[in-house]
Amino acid sequence: MRPVVIAANWKMHTTPAEAGELARLIAARTREPDVVRVICPPFVCLAAVRDALLDEPVAIGAQTVHHEARGAFTGMISAEMLVGLASWVIVGHSERRRDAGETDEIIGRQLGRALDAGLRPILCVGEQLDDREAGRAETVVERQLRGALTGHDPVRLGEAGLVVAYEPVWAIGTGRSAHGADAAAMADAVRGAMGNLGWGAAADAVPVLYGGSVTSANIEEFLAEPAIDGALVGGASLKADEMAGIVGRAGITARARSTARARTAGSGAR
Ligand code: PGA
Repeated sequence: MRPVVIAANWKMHTTPAEAGELARLIAARTREPDVVRVICPPFVCLAAVRDALLDEPVAIGAQTVHHEARGAFTGMISAEMLVGLASWVIVGHSERRRDAGETDEIIGRQLGRALDAGLRPILCVGEQLDDREAGRAETVVERQLRGALTGHDPVRLGEAGLVVAYEPVWAIGTGRSAHGADAAAMADAVRGAMGNLGWGAAADAVPVLYGGSVTSANIEEFLAEPAIDGALVGGASLKADEMAGIVGRAGITARARSTARARTAGSGAR
């Protein structure tokens, strides 16, 4: 049974003081026990957000992590530094691929550091617009998955709770979201590719999120797709009203899915 997850990626927004306040506000307005909520603030805001959320079941994530465990890497943050501050970490976000030159190989090593430190990874994948227009979106995403996941034990990654976020690059921050059906087709392709990478049937248990211009107005289109288990939200995650709408809708989905599962299990038992 896959969880419904709404993860907020605050990117390079908020000061520590603002972050604590915003986290408290969002937590108070999104109390949906059936939805896994994650907030990923900037590194320097992690402690403030942790302190603000001590009494709230909201997980905290980092936005990236260095691929080495330690060393002479000025300005970088290792996985073990995050322990006690974050329990999740985003790896492979397209802005890191673009701005920090992170390759699939580096992202694979980041996954390894996340696992070593007990952090739950959200692995981002997604094609450029020209890839989609040329009909090679799935090929690109499969290549990213292969590059990052090869060499990792599926059992270990599965136990760590690996989440995949499908974020078409052309949809991020543009106001132009993907179609729900296309995102669902990609979620199926992601699980298919993972099945072929040694995951077998365990690929079906991997939550796949959609990301790219998600708002309270369009979240429904994605959650209506059974293949999609939630969203990675950027711009809209900085607004408590938007998060209230998004997580509220996710709560409806989570309850509907668990009712449907209970019914199926019940009819199977008879
Ligand atoms: P966006 O960002 O919601 O602002 O498009 C999503 C993301 O980059 O994770």
